Amino acid sequence: MNENEIFHRLLTVIESYRASQRDGKVVEYRSPDELAKILDLHGAEKNGDWDAIFDWVEKYLTYSVKTNHPGFVNRMWVGGNLPSVVGEIVAAVSNTSACTFESAPVSTLFERYMIEQMLDIAGFVQGEGQMTTGSSNANMIAMMTARNVWNSTVKVDGLCGQKKLYAFVGADSHYSMDKAANILGIGTGQLVKVDLNKNGEMIPAALRRSLEAVIADGGEPFFVAATAGTTVRGAFDPIEALVALRKEFGFWLHVDGAWGGASVLSPRLKGKYLAGLSDADSFTCDFHKMLGATLMCNILLINKRKNTFSTVLSAGDGSYLFRDEGVKEVEDFGTMSLQCGRRVDSLKWFLDWKFFGREGLARRVEHYLELCEYAESLVVKHAELELVVPRTSFNVCFRYKVAEKDANNFNLALRTALHQGGINLVGMAYIDGKMVMRLLVTNPETTEVDVENFFARVIEIGNGLLP
Ligand SMILES: Cc1ncc(COP(=O)(O)O)c(C=O)c1O
Repeated sequence: MNENEIFHRLLTVIESYRASQRDGKVVEYRSPDELAKILDLHGAEKNGDWDAIFDWVEKYLTYSVKTNHPGFVNRMWVGGNLPSVVGEIVAAVSNTSACTFESAPVSTLFERYMIEQMLDIAGFVQGEGQMTTGSSNANMIAMMTARNVWNSTVKVDGLCGQKKLYAFVGADSHYSMDKAANILGIGTGQLVKVDLNKNGEMIPAALRRSLEAVIADGGEPFFVAATAGTTVRGAFDPIEALVALRKEFGFWLHVDGAWGGASVLSPRLKGKYLAGLSDADSFTCDFHKMLGATLMCNILLINKRKNTFSTVLSAGDGSYLFRDEGVKEVEDFGTMSLQCGRRVDSLKWFLDWKFFGREGLARRVEHYLELCEYAESLVVKHAELELVVPRTSFNVCFRYKVAEKDANNFNLALRTALHQGGINLVGMAYIDGKMVMRLLVTNPETTEVDVENFFARVIEIGNGLLP
C-alpha cells in the first residue's frame, strides 16, 4: 500500500466512524479479558502489513466509547469540534514541537494570538499566558509560580529550612491541587481544605478562620485557589470575597476554571459566575471540556506580571534550543514550559476560535446551562428520581429514589447496567456518602429530546432493577 492509498483508506475509516458515532450503543462493552483476546495483543511485530494495522484501527474504533453519542454524558468532554479534529490531524502529520518559534513558527503565533484574546476576555492587564497539558498541570504551575513569587529564593535554595508554606482550597476542589502540593514540596498536609456552604461554595469567613489559624501557628499562607465550577457539584467559589481577603493577607489568588471557566466567554455568565475574575492573579480554563476542542487544550493566564513564567520556570542550560544571540524574534514558549517537547495544541484551538467565534462558543455555553435547567426540571418532575443536591450551574447530581439504606447499591447497579448495556455512560460520584449520577451536557448537538430520552432510559432500566 502506498501513502496515497493509506491516507485514502484512513479517511474512509474516519468518515464512516464519525457518521455512525451517534448511533447504536454508546459502547460495545467487553470485559478486559474478552477485549484482550479480541485485540490479539500478541500479534506479530514488524509485520509491515498495513491491512493488519487497519484491522487494529477498526477494532480500536469498534470497542472505544463513542464520546459523540447522545448517551455519553460521563465526562466533561465529548467527541471534539470538527475544526479541532482537522487541526489535530494536521498537527500529527506536520509533527513538530511548539517549544520554539524556530521549530513551530505558525503555532507560536497562534498561541500568542489566543493568549492575547483570552487575557483580554478575562480582564487581565500586563499579563501573560501559556497553553499547558491540561488544568491539572496548569493548577500546579500556578501554585509553583505563587510559591516562587512568594519566596524568590526557593528556586535555588529549595524549601528546606524555610517556614512552612500553606495553600488553601475549597473542600470540593479538584484532586490536582493535592497532587500539586505533593509535587511542589508543600506537602498535602499543608493544603488546607476550607469549609463549604450548602451549595458547595467556599465560605469566605471559613477561609479567614483557616488563614488566621495558620498564621497564629507560624505558617505562611501563600496561595488560595477558587474553583470556578467544581468537578462534582459545579459550584463556583465567590471570587470577589476572596479578592477582598487577599488585600488583607497577601496570598496569590488562582482561579481553577477547568470546567466552569468557559463561562468567561459569555458576558452574561461571566457576570453571574466569575465576578471579580479580573482581580485574580491567575486563571486556567480547559478548551477541551465545555468548549469542545479535542483533548488536550488548555490555557493558563497570569495577571499583571509579565515575564514571571520564564523567571519561575526556566532552569538549566537550554541554549541548544532557545536562541539568545540577537536573533530572537519572539519569546519561545519552551522556556516557560514544564517539559521540553510541546504538543501543538494552538492550531486546533485557533481553528475552533475562527470557525465558531467567541459569540458562537458563548452561546454554546449558555445553551448547556439551559439544557441543565431543563434536566433539573425533569428530575423534579419524575417521581422515580431525586436531586441529591441543588443544581447551581452545569452539573445535575441526581439518583434513582429508593430506600436510603439501599440507595448507593441500587444506583451503582443501575449505572453499571446502563454502561454495560451500551445505553448511556453517566458520571458518578459520592456527595456526603451518597452516590450520585452526575449529568453533564457538553455536546453541542444535544437537544431537549436527548435529555428526555436519557432520563426515560434511566427510569426504564431502574424500574427493571426494582425487587
Ligand atoms: C475543577 C477541575 N479542575 C481541574 C481539572 C483537571 O483538568 P485536566 O483534566 O485538564 O487536567 C478538572 C477535571 O475534571 C476539574 O474538574
